[in-house]
This record gives sequence, structure tokens and C-alpha cells, in this order.
Amino acid sequence: MDLIVKQLTKSFGAVQALQPLDLHIRSGEFTTLLGPSGCGKTTLLRMIAGLETPDSGEIWLDDECVFSSEKGVFKPVHKRKLGMVFQDFALWPHLTVYENVAFGLKAAKQTNGMKERVMDAIGAVRLSGLEQRYPSQLSGGQQQRVAFARAIAVEPKLILFDEPLSALDALLRDEMRDELLHLVQSRGLTAIYVTHDQLEAMSMSDQILVMQGGKVLQKGAPEEIYHRPTEPFVAKFVGKSNWIDPDKRMIRPEKLRWTGRPGDLTWSAVVKRVSYLGDRYEITLELEDGTVWAGYHDQRLQAGDRVLVYASPHDTHSIHPIKEEIYV
Ligand SMILES: Nc1ncnc2c1ncn2[C@@H]1O[C@H](COP(=O)(O)OP(=O)(O)O)[C@@H](O)[C@H]1O
Ligand SMILES: [Mg+2]
Repeated sequence: MDLIVKQLTKSFGAVQALQPLDLHIRSGEFTTLLGPSGCGKTTLLRMIAGLETPDSGEIWLDDECVFSSEKGVFKPVHKRKLGMVFQDFALWPHLTVYENVAFGLKAAKQTNGMKERVMDAIGAVRLSGLEQRYPSQLSGGQQQRVAFARAIAVEPKLILFDEPLSALDALLRDEMRDELLHLVQSRGLTAIYVTHDQLEAMSMSDQILVMQGGKVLQKGAPEEIYHRPTEPFVAKFVGKSNWIDPDKRMIRPEKLRWTGRPGDLTWSAVVKRVSYLGDRYEITLELEDGTVWAGYHDQRLQAGDRVLVYASPHDTHSIHPIKEEIYV
């Protein structure tokens, strides 16, 4: 399902949660809204879902207008044919797994062939056999699977995720991330996924929208966001950045080398700190002018060591903030 958002805005009192936003998400794409807490991710998602009323603008799902401030259109949440998964799972504690999943279908007024659809969704998230359990009798990962099952049971064309994995511990989070992605892809769903976790965003998405202060700063494939940030904030929020010229030119830590080649740029630095990451060491460096950088080494250096670091000029990146309004 294609999603088109035109000039959407939302304020809460004096807080402009979302500045005028244009957005086009194509069918089958996995799009992530990435940004720090309070940047407006949840507000945007809730407006797409129909849980929050925008101040102005339009929202289109394929060629159906589901919201327009000008035309006075507001389709309620159950008429938008969406699936939703939230951080806190939002399961009913007094309903069984089966009943929780069926609840989604009833709310969407889709009761035809309900039993089969519920069982199919429960099977898809590998919870067959646990239909009669209550949420309190399930692990965190299993509870999250019930929430997925409830979202996919309505056979949505568009599925919205709001930080669905952040309540899970690290190992389980990785496992659920793969599972969630597989589920979305195998069902051909269009997904919008909200997270503040850059690694999650990078590993799952076809495209990432980096947000700050109610604005989309940059939109692109993960590789593009990482290698060619167009704003200093994006460079700093996604991965680590070493600044050659503050907010203008930077280099990623993995591009720094400890031996030189012809044509290299060279910096003299002192090792400040060494952290073992398992597969390598992260070296915190202080340059002569006091700038702090990060680099990676396969051997442990000692704090206080004086070193030379090298990089090819081609591996540096200059930031060119786009002055015009960004159309995403
Ligand atoms: N119901 C609300 N009432 C007042 N302010 C709100 C409400 N919901 C969100 N906000 C404010 O809008 C901004 C964006 O919030 P939110 O969309 O929840 O951000 P995020 O999901 O990126 O953390 C924040 O400043 C937040 O405090
Ligand atoms: Mg949020």
C-alpha cells in the first residue's frame, strides 16, 4: 500500500511536534523513522494510524484520502486497515492468546472465517499450542509475538511499529528483529517502524528518515545515511563521526588507518582510552588541537601512546546542508 502524506502538521500547545511534512512510502518498503526521544516519531505514527488528529495536511492510503483538514475527512482507525504493534505490547491481561488475536479482528469488524485467521496468525508467529494461555503466563518475547499476531491477523497492507523491541533484552531483541523482518517480508507488508536505535534502523530498513525536533532532516537508504549525511546531526546520530572541520567535514572511525599510504592525510594524536569490543579495540584519540576522535585497532594500544593516524582524502565526507525544504 502506498502512503502519501502532504503538509502534515501537529502542535501540542506551544510544542510543534511535527513541522509541515511531505512523505511518500511505496508499497512493500520497510521505512524507519529514526531520531532521539521527543522528535515526533510517535506523533507521526499515531496520525497515520488515526489515533491522533493532525492540525493540517492530508494523508492518503493508496488512492483513498483518510485525513484532510481542508475537506474535513477523518477515517477512524478501524477503517484504515492497518496493523499496529507498540512497545508495551498492549495485550488484554484477562484475555487468552486466542482472544487477544481475535480481538483485533473484531475491532476491525472482520469476523468472517475468524477462527482460521486467528490460528493462521498464531502459527505464523510460532505460538501454536499456547492459544489458551494468558499474557502473564508468557515470556516477554512470546507476548510480543502475540502483539504481532494480532496486527497481522487483520491482513493489513500497512503495518506500524512503535519501538516494538525496546522492552526486550539484547539477545532476544536480535532474534525478534530477524523474526519480525521475515514476517513482514514473507507477507509482502509495507512497514513503518519507529526506533531511536540506529543499529536497529540500519539493519532492518529499505529507507530511513532521520528526524529531529519535529522535522525530517534526511531520507535515504541506510548506506546513504551513514556514508553521505547531509546534516551534522545525522552524521553524529548515526554511527560515530570524527570531525576534521567542525560540522563541515568528517571521517568515520573505521576509515582511519595506523600506517600511511601515498597521498594520505595524517594526524598526530595521543591515545586517551582503549575499550575492548571483542572483535577489535576502540581507541579514543585526542588530536593536537584537543579534538576527540575514535578509531579501531586489532591490537591493544596503551593510554598515553603517541600515534600517527592516516586516511585517504576520498574517505572523508563533507556535509552540505540542503537549504531548500526537503521533500521526502
Ligand atoms: N499528548 C501530548 N500532549 C502534549 N505534548 C505531547 C503529546 N504527545 C507528544 N507530545 C510532545 O510532542 C513532542 C513529540 O513527541 P513524540 O511524538 O512522542 O516523540 P518521540 O516518539 O519521537 O519520542 C514531544 O515534545 C512531546 O512531549
Ligand atoms: Mg515515541
